Amino acid sequence: MPQNDGLNRRSFLRNTGMAAFVGAFGSAAPLAAATAAAAAVAENGKFDFDTPYNRFGTDSTKYDQQIRVYGKDSVQVGMGIADMDFKVAPSITKELMARLQHENWGYLDMQGSLGKSMNEHIVAWNKKRYGLTVNPESVVMTTGVHPGLIAAIKAFCPPGSKVLLNTPTYNGFYGDLTYTKTLPEEVPMRLVNGRYSIDFDEFERHIGPDTNVYILCNPQNPTGNMWSQADLMKLGEICLKRRVVVLADEIHCDFAQKGQKYTPFASLPDKAIVNNSITFKAASKSFGLAAMKCAWFFSDNTDFVNRVRANNRADLTTLGLIASHGAYSGGEEWLNQCVEYIDGNQDFVSQYVAANIPMIKCVKPQGTYLQWLDVSAVADKIGAKDMAAEANKKAEGGGRRGAGVTPETMVERYLVRHAKVHLNQGASYGLGGANHMRMNIATSRKTLEVALSSLANALKTVAPDRTLIG
Ligand SMILES: Cc1ncc(COP(=O)(O)O)c(C=O)c1O
Repeated sequence: MPQNDGLNRRSFLRNTGMAAFVGAFGSAAPLAAATAAAAAVAENGKFDFDTPYNRFGTDSTKYDQQIRVYGKDSVQVGMGIADMDFKVAPSITKELMARLQHENWGYLDMQGSLGKSMNEHIVAWNKKRYGLTVNPESVVMTTGVHPGLIAAIKAFCPPGSKVLLNTPTYNGFYGDLTYTKTLPEEVPMRLVNGRYSIDFDEFERHIGPDTNVYILCNPQNPTGNMWSQADLMKLGEICLKRRVVVLADEIHCDFAQKGQKYTPFASLPDKAIVNNSITFKAASKSFGLAAMKCAWFFSDNTDFVNRVRANNRADLTTLGLIASHGAYSGGEEWLNQCVEYIDGNQDFVSQYVAANIPMIKCVKPQGTYLQWLDVSAVADKIGAKDMAAEANKKAEGGGRRGAGVTPETMVERYLVRHAKVHLNQGASYGLGGANHMRMNIATSRKTLEVALSSLANALKTVAPDRTLIG
């Protein structure tokens, strides 16, 4: 396969008319062409996840931000931030297009027919897909899982108090803690043969008098753990006993690999345990709607809901709400096929890495569209520790790239420089993240092949590269 087939930034822009779209933002014709293409109906009932959908030139964090950071033509494949490269489900584009016909964007009545219908869809979706009964009155809309979590942390945790985390965990949580002036209480997970598990005694030992909440990530970003009912019960019992409120972030719940099952915390068989929790969800991961800013939380505990609601000033956008509505009203089959495609991608990555990239180790995750890679051999070979120490020293002395550089930052820079592939550096995911990188595989198989073959080539011979120090 030609290396750049369908993926070359410039040819993509030329071929799709996206250059005109970018250059003349606001010009109606290319925008209409782009959206019409996005709304293409599946043929033979099959949605197309195979054709690379080039996102360069759309101000995407995954691609364009990396170009901004690393320079022109530096990145060929973005495999960082957790969003998907696919065209959205046609039902989403259809509902958005219909609303666009009405050219007025005044304030939205959240209690109106759209809000009500969304509420019904959330309840029905949870019932149908996960067998979970959600009280419609307890569902509170918010502009993202982050704002919801922040509202909850503010409700339960005074500044300076601790928030429990199993690490490695989603790095965005640390930002929520900074925002609420709380501190992480990190409980590193056990790692045996590439598989992570929770040491429950250790978990309990980390709970002190100033630990008020635990952020559960299920499935776990970045390790891909799907927590079993037994795991969740154990965590739930400890948290209930020690008066720690469980904030269950289940945003990745739809991505369960074949043979795996997602267990909602709110479905646990002990009512007291469930009542000690709040669940945070969205359609954004499942349907590629991250920038649409729409999420929700719910709990059977009315007092909890009211306390969090009091901190949750959420003015949703009309388009964001419509996009999530379109996802749930007509996107289920698209999602089913997407999850299956992702499962195939995960298999493909495990097999490809085992066969062709001896410097990287990975095991197939149970859930999410993320791959957690052990890159310790790469870090070793390039002298990442020494380079990071030198970069930090230089930064203290007024160097160009700023302090806080980790050895994994060096691996990140190395892979961009030598493979043109961008991955997220593991140390940002907390204790236990060192020597790892996170790779987002929610893309076309072809894009994945290009990324993996570029990594394989770049890692055939590995040597320190002092230009990375900055
Ligand atoms: C576990 C987890 N929670 C929350 C978020 C962000 O949610 P939102 O964009 O709704 O604020 C992400 C995004 O990657 C995530 O992985």
